[in-house]
Amino acid sequence: MNGSLRDIRREYSGAALPADVGDFDPWPFLEGWIADAVASDEPEPTAMVLATVGLDGRPRARVLLLKEVGPDGLVFFSHYESPKGEQLDATPAAAVTLWWSRLMRQVRAVGRVERLTRTENEAYFRSRPRASQIGAWASYQSQPLGSRAELEEQVIETGDRFAGRDVPCPPDWGGYRLIPDEIEFWQGQPSRLNDRVVSRLTADGWVTGRIQP
Ligand SMILES: Cc1cc2nc3c(=O)[nH]c(=O)nc-3n(C[C@H](O)[C@H](O)[C@H](O)COP(=O)(O)O)c2cc1C
Repeated sequence: MNGSLRDIRREYSGAALPADVGDFDPWPFLEGWIADAVASDEPEPTAMVLATVGLDGRPRARVLLLKEVGPDGLVFFSHYESPKGEQLDATPAAAVTLWWSRLMRQVRAVGRVERLTRTENEAYFRSRPRASQIGAWASYQSQPLGSRAELEEQVIETGDRFAGRDVPCPPDWGGYRLIPDEIEFWQGQPSRLNDRVVSRLTADGWVTGRIQP
C-alpha cells in the first residue's frame, strides 16, 4: 500500500494571492474564500478541524462546522461538557484549519476562545431542526454508549419529554468564538510552490507578509 500512496501526486493550481499585501485585511478576504467554497462543489464547505490542548498537554483535533465568520471571530457550536469543552475551559485557546480540496486552499487561524452568551446560544438553537434539538438533549457527547439501541431509546424519551412544545436550548450546549490573532491563507500552486500569506494582529492592527511554501 505504501508504494501506491507515494505515487499519488496531484498538481495544485489556482489564482495567486494578492501580490501587494501592504494593507491586506484578513476578514473580508476570509469571507470571500468561504463564499467561494460555498459556491464551489465542495460537499461540506464549512467543515473545519479544531485543535485544542488536551488536559494531559497533548493536542486533540476534530472536525466541526463553522457557523459564523466576521471580524468578531469564527463561531462553532458544541456540547460544553464534551472533552473539547473541558479542554477549552482549561485552556481557552485553539487553532482551526479549513481545507477546500476543489479550490486547493487552506486557512489556518489561531487565537483565544470564548463562549457565546446564553442569548446567542438560544437564538441559534431555535434555528436548528427539531430532530437536532432533540439530539442535543439526548446525547452526552463522547460518553460511552452500550449500543445504538440505547441512543435511539434516549432520543425517543427526549422526544416524549418535549412533546407538544418547543425544545429549549440545553444549559450545557452552545457556541464558542475563536478570536484569532494569526490567520494564514494558503493557495496551492504548481510544483508545490504554493502561495502563502500570514496576517498577525499587532498593536497597530493586522500586519501581513508572504511566507515560503
Ligand atoms: C463533518 C463533521 C461535522 C461535525 N460538526 C460538529 C459540530 O458542529 N459540533 C460538534 O460538537 N461536533 C461536530 N462533529 C463531531 C466532532 O468531530 C467530534 O466527534 C465531537 O464534537 C466530539 O469531540 P470531542 O470528544 O473532542 O469533544 C462533526 C464531525 C464531522 C465529521
